[in-house]
Amino acid sequence: MSSPQIITAKDFGKNFNWGVVIAAAQNEGAVNIDGKGPTIWDSFSASSNKIKGGAKLTIACDFYHRYKDDLLLVKALGFSVFRFSISWARLLPDGIGKINKEGLFFYHKVIDECIKLGLTPYVTLYHWDLPQELENKGGWTNYFINKWFSRFVTVCADAYGDKVKHWIILNEPFAFTTLGYMLGKHAPGKRGLSNFLPAIHHAALAQAEGGRIIRRLVPQAHIGTAFSCSQIIPFSDKKEDVAAANRMDILMNRLFIEPALGKGYPVDDSFKFLDKLQMHNKTWKYTERLHFDFDFIGLQYYFPVVVRHNSYIPIIQASEVKAATRKVPFTAMGWEVNAESFYRTIKKLWLHGGVKEIIITENGSAFKDELKNGVIDDAERIDYFKQHLHAVLRAKKEGVNVKGYFAWTLMDNFEWSEGYHPKFGLVHVDQKTQLRTIKNSGYWWRDFLG
Ligand code: NOJ
Repeated sequence: MSSPQIITAKDFGKNFNWGVVIAAAQNEGAVNIDGKGPTIWDSFSASSNKIKGGAKLTIACDFYHRYKDDLLLVKALGFSVFRFSISWARLLPDGIGKINKEGLFFYHKVIDECIKLGLTPYVTLYHWDLPQELENKGGWTNYFINKWFSRFVTVCADAYGDKVKHWIILNEPFAFTTLGYMLGKHAPGKRGLSNFLPAIHHAALAQAEGGRIIRRLVPQAHIGTAFSCSQIIPFSDKKEDVAAANRMDILMNRLFIEPALGKGYPVDDSFKFLDKLQMHNKTWKYTERLHFDFDFIGLQYYFPVVVRHNSYIPIIQASEVKAATRKVPFTAMGWEVNAESFYRTIKKLWLHGGVKEIIITENGSAFKDELKNGVIDDAERIDYFKQHLHAVLRAKKEGVNVKGYFAWTLMDNFEWSEGYHPKFGLVHVDQKTQLRTIKNSGYWWRDFLG
């Protein structure tokens, strides 16, 4: 997709939703202020050496105190949607018990400010920051997480349901179960199948149950859940690479959407892992409860994954062939820049069937920005957006019901185990002074949307 022709927001139609996204743990800071309880990320960053540069979430972008100015920035850049997540432990410090009124009040203020500015709030209920108290009881591996999560969702719906109509139940369940409960790379740092299998099942249940609760309690709710999606490409046409790509596709793209659509977990005789998941699931006997009639699916895309067979890797027997090895363009995260693959990913999700509406709930890129004389000339990020917006428009024109595009992310923030180094924002944040500087990509968005 080289030198695409110029497009504008108008090409997407009047009712297309343009948004920008943040998440509580990555932006708010104020981790132990006004009654907030600790989360798995607070603990993980305090005690492990798994976060680059020993980064902490204590201040992050200080959104907790600066939300008014930050929302003005969202408005100034021309967006009409603001997607943010609610910190479970700010509302329920120990995950289930007493409501923390100050926490509840904070999101009222954010929502009211959005409404005042004419920004439509899209609320994510779970963006990875589980209350530590619940992790002490097993977190996502404990069947009771569904009761705990239901209580949290109920509190949110009761508090904000008259003002918030757009809800995203889970953010990237594949990512948080795999990285947090299988590979130990994200909080809570658990590993192995005995954690992974129950975490998958409980997240899939929570996703559907959360949807049911919002449907019951919020009139006219527009309910979705957000999946990380990637095109999976076999490294060669050798039979074993093709089979490895199929296994990766099942895990990365199908594991959570198929149960949500009422199809149960993916079935594939050649992938033994699925038998294990089915066995657990049969013991638990709740397959029908995995289904929920979502109004939209949030598609989050960053890069394609090229895989080859690798018998040393347990379960999946596949490994990724990185962009650098393949000598294709990549971002500061090492992720291939490939907008054609984005187009294919959108089409594939749509052609899969059963999805009513797609919203691109995240897309963006990290590059090595340089602040020179008060300017960040992030031409690569602008180019990334241009190419990827073309991909969305192409899919839309071909009949995919794609209703919105939300850029990741408003400002440079805490990129999980990568710390503060990767810069995804449209706005640069000086970590010491908290000074915000709009990057050229931010100005580009303002002109694009203008
Ligand atoms: C997906 C996650 O939802 C978000 O939290 C993360 O920062 C971005 N991808 C970039 O890695």
